Amino acid sequence: MDVSNPAHAGQAVYTERVLKSYDAVVLRMSSSFIWRCPADHILRHYDRHVGGTHLDIGPGTGYFLDRCRFPVHEPGITLLDPNLTVLQHAAARIARYRPDTRQGDALAPIELQDRSYASVGMSYLLHCLPGDIAAKTVALDHVLPLLAPGGVVFGTTILGDPELHTGVGQRLMALYNRKGIFSNDDDTRADLDLALAKRFPRYELEVVGAVALFAGWLDEDSETPADWPARSATG
Ligand SMILES: C[S@@+](CC[C@H](N)C(=O)[O-])C[C@H]1O[C@@H](n2cnc3c(N)ncnc32)[C@H](O)[C@@H]1O
Repeated sequence: MDVSNPAHAGQAVYTERVLKSYDAVVLRMSSSFIWRCPADHILRHYDRHVGGTHLDIGPGTGYFLDRCRFPVHEPGITLLDPNLTVLQHAAARIARYRPDTRQGDALAPIELQDRSYASVGMSYLLHCLPGDIAAKTVALDHVLPLLAPGGVVFGTTILGDPELHTGVGQRLMALYNRKGIFSNDDDTRADLDLALAKRFPRYELEVVGAVALFAGWLDEDSETPADWPARSATG
């Protein structure tokens, strides 16, 4: 990804050195104690939603894919990330599933087979993407055509609403936003709710600490998303 791209910093930070300490520092410590949503809670979110054909966007170290329970013995997994180091690291960790890897940006259209995934995961991705919720949830639009009928998009993201954060959390979030590693200052629970309501006939949104856990489903008999009428945000 070009350094002039506003999304560059949010993925470039994941060097091999950072990935080596990521599970301990980000998933065990920060997730539990700073954002106040233990990684086990996110793992259960994976267990509930992951399907037999799964696209994971922004897989990081592959921690959740390595530990979650797939509904079939031999899931078909695709990993998508702009960062080749991430793709290699995560693919090696779950080599037993023989995943496909694709270098790509969640903010650009994704060239994969339409209607071929039972689930798409985006854990701790949206807060790394530039723009407000309305701008960054274009990432949801890019995966909708890839979902099989009845398929689910699920994920987690750290929200920016100040009342969800401790003082330490606010300071760390401000630092990460200054560095461009996070872009979530303006990400509100209300906007995420609206973005999900607009796109999915059925969705769930839970907030634990400062972390939103979400899932949105397509109807079994849904036509292509492009045919849908605009939905109201009544939830
Ligand atoms: C905070 S890590 C999350 C890793 C993992 N999903 C987890 O929950 O621990 C963010 C991941 O999103 C990826 N990422 C950042 N910007 C991206 C973009 N524009 N498109 C796709 N992936 C991106 C990063 O390279 C990294 O793998």
